[in-house]
Amino acid sequence: MVLDNKLLEDVFNNFLEGPKIFKNRDAIRPDYIPQYLPHREEQIIRIGHILAPVLRGFRGSNLFIYGKTGTGKTAVVKHVLEHLLHKSREVNSPIFISYVNCRISGTNYRILADLGADLGIKIPFTGLATNEVYSRFKTSLDLQKILMIVVLDEIDTLVKDHGDSILYELTRINELLKHSRLSIVGISNDIMFKEFLDPRVLSSLSEEEVIFRPYMAPEIRDILLDRTKITFYDDVLSEGALNICSALAASEHGDARRALSLLRVAGELVEREGSAKILEVHIRQAQKKIEHDRVTMILRTLTPHSRLVLCGMFLIKKAKISTSITGDVYEVYTELCGEIGFEPLTQRRVSSLISELDIMGVFNARLVSLGRYGRTKKIRLSLTNSTIIAAYSEDPWLKNLLKFKPKCLLSKMMNKNAAKTR
Ligand SMILES: Nc1ncnc2c1ncn2[C@@H]1O[C@H](COP(=O)(O)OP(=O)(O)OP(=O)(O)O)[C@@H](O)[C@H]1O
Ligand SMILES: [Mg+2]
Repeated sequence: MVLDNKLLEDVFNNFLEGPKIFKNRDAIRPDYIPQYLPHREEQIIRIGHILAPVLRGFRGSNLFIYGKTGTGKTAVVKHVLEHLLHKSREVNSPIFISYVNCRISGTNYRILADLGADLGIKIPFTGLATNEVYSRFKTSLDLQKILMIVVLDEIDTLVKDHGDSILYELTRINELLKHSRLSIVGISNDIMFKEFLDPRVLSSLSEEEVIFRPYMAPEIRDILLDRTKITFYDDVLSEGALNICSALAASEHGDARRALSLLRVAGELVEREGSAKILEVHIRQAQKKIEHDRVTMILRTLTPHSRLVLCGMFLIKKAKISTSITGDVYEVYTELCGEIGFEPLTQRRVSSLISELDIMGVFNARLVSLGRYGRTKKIRLSLTNSTIIAAYSEDPWLKNLLKFKPKCLLSKMMNKNAAKTR
């Protein structure tokens, strides 16, 4: 115990005595919205033009915004709306803004309840019919005589999971209101989601459209440079680190969030090692750490059956059996289920779990033709065995199953060895 305290004392002292790195830690967190958003002037002005009519009491056009992740959609919309709200107070316009993140709110019910809560109506967490929540929201909205702007961020997640019924209602609501008006700003990083929308909803929602294209390396560099000034003390960030960070983020679909998190993690690494400057090597280390954390997070959130499928693939790789098609994985998976008393899922269901693992980047699956026997998936594990062992070191079942020797694999291995000696 005494030793622990001494070690901790050293950690704190080293931190206090080490060079100062961060001037403002909040300024590099993902939800921080800076005063200036370089290279988004065009989008800021366009969105400003589209929403400005509300300042004179007209309903703003509905607006649909899309662009890949980390291209500044949320930051820009919040920035414009903050200024709009400010202006509306100056000119006494009855504007009311409500922002909802559809991924976090989750369901139609919760989204309506959150919008209602912003208007001051209390809606129980569950228990009412969604229609009833909608109706209370509509009544309250009309009573308040306001111009409401509703931002539905990450709108694709809502539509994919719960359809577009709430969007249909919200885009038609003005026909039923006497004293208030509502306009919608929908934001998505998935353009394909439009295909999930009823054509009527799509045409109302995208009365106006603004596209955010990915940033290029010099643009990300400018964004980082601006943010560096408020985040770090002078001279903390080296030129080399700034350049490599911009280049890495630009090569991955021009994602400013990615660039900022590389910089934040690199800053923390430097601070912990007691150095004074962020160098290229720290950005590379940060990249590895972020990737490692991402993979570990994915592995730890897998469902029990996906874990078993993954474990099966791990054992196949360990046994050095080169062909691993859906059938092979299923065979090992079923044996693992038997080992821990789980009822196995059907092969079809396991095949879709394999596709999910493929999308997440845990597997690399490709369809191969078996001639007249149809097609199957040839699967490879994209992660190292040590990553998987480390991620599941605390999982009581998995950590043992990863050492298991399935009978079906033993016979395959024996066949392979026999073929070699022949
Ligand atoms: N032009 C910019 N200037 C300064 N910071 C920016 C700019 N663009 C994006 N950022 C910052 O990058 C991060 C990601 O931006 P934002 O959250 O707006 O992305 P997004 O397009 O909404 O992504 P997603 O689709 O994943 O939600 C935020 O921390 C934001 O402050
Ligand atoms: Mg966003």
